[in-house]
Amino acid sequence: MASYSCPGKIHLIGEHSVVYGKPAILAAIDRRTYVSVRKDRDEKITISSKGFGSFHGSVKDCLDFSGRLDSLHGKGDFKKLFAAVRKTPSSSLRALAGKAAKELGIEEGFSARFKSGIESNAGLGSSAALSLAFTKSLASCFGIRLGDKKAGKISLSVERLFHGRPSGADTAICQRGGIIWFRKGTVKSLNGRKKEILLVRTKRESTTGEMVAKVKAMDPQKRIAIMDELERLTFEMRKHVSKRGNEKTVDIFNSAQQSLRALGISTPKIGRICDVVREIGGGAKLSGAGGGGCVVCIHNDLRSLGKALRREGFHPERALVGERGLRLFKP
Ligand code: MEV
Repeated sequence: MASYSCPGKIHLIGEHSVVYGKPAILAAIDRRTYVSVRKDRDEKITISSKGFGSFHGSVKDCLDFSGRLDSLHGKGDFKKLFAAVRKTPSSSLRALAGKAAKELGIEEGFSARFKSGIESNAGLGSSAALSLAFTKSLASCFGIRLGDKKAGKISLSVERLFHGRPSGADTAICQRGGIIWFRKGTVKSLNGRKKEILLVRTKRESTTGEMVAKVKAMDPQKRIAIMDELERLTFEMRKHVSKRGNEKTVDIFNSAQQSLRALGISTPKIGRICDVVREIGGGAKLSGAGGGGCVVCIHNDLRSLGKALRREGFHPERALVGERGLRLFKP
């Protein structure tokens, strides 16, 4: 049996602009997904999970399904692809298992167990964490040695079935942990301090792929100007991310949120949360694709921030930023 865990993530800055070749800064958080895989004698794949549903089917069926999904991806038919992958919770698991097995050349049966502490569809990188922890566990269980680069590559190819053309930033932070500077093709660990933040969840109706498509459909002139501003803010954030105080990052967070709102990916509820945080001198922004999901809130006094948010009917949760990346664990 082989078992790996991966952390969830937040975008400190640079979501969406990273899709257009700009840099982003991401941090791993103390919410993790745990995966264990063991070989089975029959040619079946069995997946049981807390939070992701369950699946039981033949290896051949999973590999065939993954082939059909690859062909939809190849044609760029993301509408049909996402409909097939998300038809039921078990079709997502069938896609995940089939694609990872296909990429690793595995044609034998196995059982997998998942346990996730990362809420899905919340902008916290749950699918990247699951894809990577699963890919590593499956490979290791079948004695396939995967270096970091290869593991990241295969995991990203699994992610593509869920998100179309992800930038790879979520996979990179889940793998490295800590805080990273990411630009397509480059990953660098930054010397950030472990910091506490507050997360406020909001319901998310749209998928990452849909939000990326929405940004793509906007007026190109307007989009380019916003992406340039986000890039400027990302370079600014890099200068301050390892410093003790929050003063500068608070301002950068609030400016980034304005830019993300101008991209049309914020929601009225996210706006209300950000207003509360700003009013008491903190910084807040959405994290990830938007259209709902988690709002990341920072302040020098998290107790007062928490009280202010609760007074307005929100439910903030503490999270630690800068956690460890992909890890073996003993189940
Ligand atoms: C999703 O977590 C972040 C986006 O920038 C998409 C991506 O990087 O692939 C919206």
